[in-house]
Amino acid sequence: MKAALADQLARVNQAHLLRFWDELTEDQRRQLADDINAVPLDRLPHLTTVVRGEGAAETDLSNIQPPLVVSKSSVGRAEIEHGQSLIAAGKVAPFTVAGGQGTRLGFDGPKGAFEISPVKNKSLFRLFAEHIRATERRYDVELTWYIMTSPINHVDTVAYFETNRYFELTVERVKFFQQGVMPSFSTDGQILLADKHRLALSPDGHGGSLLALAQSGMLKDMAAKGIEHISYFQVDNPLVHCIDPAFIGLHDRSGSEMSSKSLAKADDFEKVGNFVMVGDQLRVIEYSNMPDKIATARNDDGSRKYDAGSIAIHLIRRAFVERLTADPAAFGLPWHRAVKKVPHVDLKSGTLVEPDEPNAVKLESFIFDALPLAQKPLVMEVERADEFSPVKNAEGVDSVATAKRDMSRRAAQWLQHAGVSVSRDADGYPPVACEISPMVALDADELKHKRLPKVVSNEPVYLGE
Ligand code: UD1
Repeated sequence: MKAALADQLARVNQAHLLRFWDELTEDQRRQLADDINAVPLDRLPHLTTVVRGEGAAETDLSNIQPPLVVSKSSVGRAEIEHGQSLIAAGKVAPFTVAGGQGTRLGFDGPKGAFEISPVKNKSLFRLFAEHIRATERRYDVELTWYIMTSPINHVDTVAYFETNRYFELTVERVKFFQQGVMPSFSTDGQILLADKHRLALSPDGHGGSLLALAQSGMLKDMAAKGIEHISYFQVDNPLVHCIDPAFIGLHDRSGSEMSSKSLAKADDFEKVGNFVMVGDQLRVIEYSNMPDKIATARNDDGSRKYDAGSIAIHLIRRAFVERLTADPAAFGLPWHRAVKKVPHVDLKSGTLVEPDEPNAVKLESFIFDALPLAQKPLVMEVERADEFSPVKNAEGVDSVATAKRDMSRRAAQWLQHAGVSVSRDADGYPPVACEISPMVALDADELKHKRLPKVVSNEPVYLGE
C-alpha cells in the first residue's frame, strides 16, 4: 500500500503526507490511505495554484449592472396556482445544505439541532420537518427531503433525527448524503496533517452539493420519483418557506434552470451575497469580495444601486444539475480561497501546532457560482420580515436573539393579518414571544382560515396542533 501511495503523492509533490507512516498502526495506515483517497489528487496541480492565490475565483467587475428583480408581490395567481400544481404532483423536493461547521455559533452539534423557536424551543430541523409535513398535508402529496451533511456532522445529524423519530416524517423519505471534502494547505501548497495519520480535511463548500447529489445517487432517486425541481435552502434560517408555490410557479413558467430569492439589503455592507449582472451573466458577489465603490453606489434618486442581497434560497432544475455533472471530471465550480487558523502536525517534530495567526488556506466552492451556467436564471425579491432571519452568531447581528425576535414578529404579523388584535411596537415586534407552528399555517393567508383568539394577551402565544 505504501509504495502505491508514495508514487501517487510524489507525482503531485505531497510525499510528506507519508512522513510518519512507519510509526502508524495498520488501522491508522488504512485511515490515512482513506483520507488521501478522498482528495482529488488529479486536480492538485490546479488547486495548488489557487492556494498560492494565482488562480482564485475573481470576477472582472468592469462591466457590472444591477440585475432585473421580480417582486414576489407581483407574481400572479396563474403562476402561484401553477406552482401549487407542481407541488401537488410531487415534482418539487426540499433540499437542505447542512454540511457546514457552524463555528461562529459556537454550538457543539449539527447546526440544525440548534433550538431556536421563541416559545417551544423547536430546533431548526424540527421547524423544517413541520413545514414539510404541513405541505404534504395541504397538497396531499408525499415529499422526499434531501439533506446534505459532511463527514464532520453526518453521524450526529442522523442520530439526531433518529432520537427525534424523524419528527413524524416517513423515515424512507428523509435522504441523507454526504458532501466531499477538501484538504487545508500551507500557503505554499502543501497539504496539512491534522494528525500523523489524518489529513486536515474540511467540507468542500455548498457548491459541492451539485456533485454530491450526482455521486450519491440522489439525482437518480429524484428522477425515479419524477422530481423536477430542487428547493434549496440553508440550515440556518428559521423563517424559510421550504417549499414556496409562488417561487416555484414563476421559476418553472419562466423556463429558468436556477432561480434565487433576494431581499433589499439592510445597509451597504450587510453580510450577504450581492446579485449583479456582469455582462449578460447573473452572478453573486460575496460581501467580502464586493468593492466598497460598488457597494455604496447610488442611483440618481439616491437609492442603493446594488440592493439585491442573496438569502441563499434557490430553485434548481434537476435536469440542470444532471447536465452540469454528466462528466464529473470536466465539471467544477470556481474555488474560493480563505486563509484560516488550522492546527496541524509539525513535520520535523511530529508535535501538534496550534497557530495563533491564520496559517493555512482552505478552498470552498459556492452554489451560487452555478447561476452564470444556468439558462434564464431569475431573481425574485421577498420581504425580509417574512422569509429571512438567519442564526449565524451567538450574539449581535444575525444571532439567536434576533432570530427569536423575528420569529415572534412574523407570528404577530400573521395574527394581525388574520384579524387578531396584537400590540406591536413601531418596528412590528410584539411585547411577548409569539410562535405559530407550520402545522397550523404555512403563510399569513392560511392563518385566516383557522380558529383564532380575538386578542393576544400578555402571555407568550403558541399556536400548534
Ligand atoms: C451565506 C452566503 C451568503 C448569503 C448568506 C445568507 C456563502 C459563501 N455565503 O453566507 O451569500 O447571503 O449565506 O444567509 O455561502 N454548508 C455546507 N457545506 C459546506 C459549507 C456550508 O453544507 O461545505 C452549508 C451550511 O451548513 C449552511 C450554509 O451552507 O447551511 C451556509 O454556510 P455559511 O458558510 O455559514 O455561509 P454564510 O457565510 O453564512
